[in-house]
Amino acid sequence: MKVVRALADLRRLRADLPNPHGLVPTMGALHEGHLSLVRRAKRECDSVGVSIFVNPAQFGPAEDLASYPRNIELDLSMLEAQGVDVVWTPEESEVYPPGFQTWVTVEELSRPLEGARRPGHFRGVATVVAKLFNAFQPQRAFFGQKDAQQVMVIRRMAADLDFPVEIAVCPTVRESDGLAMSSRNAYLKPAERQAATVLFRALTAAKRAFDGGERDAERLREILRGVIAAEPLAKIGYVSVADPSSLAEAAGRVNVGLMSLAVQIGNTMLIDNLSLDER
Ligand code: PAF
Repeated sequence: MKVVRALADLRRLRADLPNPHGLVPTMGALHEGHLSLVRRAKRECDSVGVSIFVNPAQFGPAEDLASYPRNIELDLSMLEAQGVDVVWTPEESEVYPPGFQTWVTVEELSRPLEGARRPGHFRGVATVVAKLFNAFQPQRAFFGQKDAQQVMVIRRMAADLDFPVEIAVCPTVRESDGLAMSSRNAYLKPAERQAATVLFRALTAAKRAFDGGERDAERLREILRGVIAAEPLAKIGYVSVADPSSLAEAAGRVNVGLMSLAVQIGNTMLIDNLSLDER
């Protein structure tokens, strides 16, 4: 496995790697969720690249950029064990050189949910992912369903800007009690870690109601809110039952939908989602 910092070195190495090339973009602090993406990339592609870059452009001024977990040595040993071909760990100045002023904005899909909670977040994500696609020239790129809106934004961006890359989405990887794996789970104190299961409990309660015949969007949102309200350490960021292609909030009857949650536990905002589909 080659680890490079300079874009020129990445390009040189990439030129000798066979296609299809699979890219797994990450911000490091790797966990089983990331490794599930890498394993799938290994199965489906003839070479695999991983980026590790804590992208400042997707963090708001009051967010956790400085404290975001970083463990590059451990990350690299995990990737080496998976047989990754190349890892790019660029400096910030390599990705955003002095004078940088070109941004990618996916207009509508970036507005609700995480976009409303984190202004500018998806502009940062879409821009860095576009740059990663240019750098790695992957035929396939792998993302987790846990960040469902991110996947939608990236898919739209890739289609709109004619990137010849297939966006592959892998299921959310969960702890045994249902908590979705996330690098930010490391922030949780023991009591908060316990309370954090409320996201999955809320989603599964609403899904159970849907599977039992409940189709009213507002009633499903009430079920989500009710479970979260019963957890003393949890504070609702947002609760959404939305159209899975536009992310517009559903009104009245839902036959297919995406339920999304942002819930603050202590100082940590966690997100999760589950699809609804009556078929
Ligand atoms: O999901 C993430 O870790 C990041 O948003 C991504 C896609 C690597 C872009 O920085």
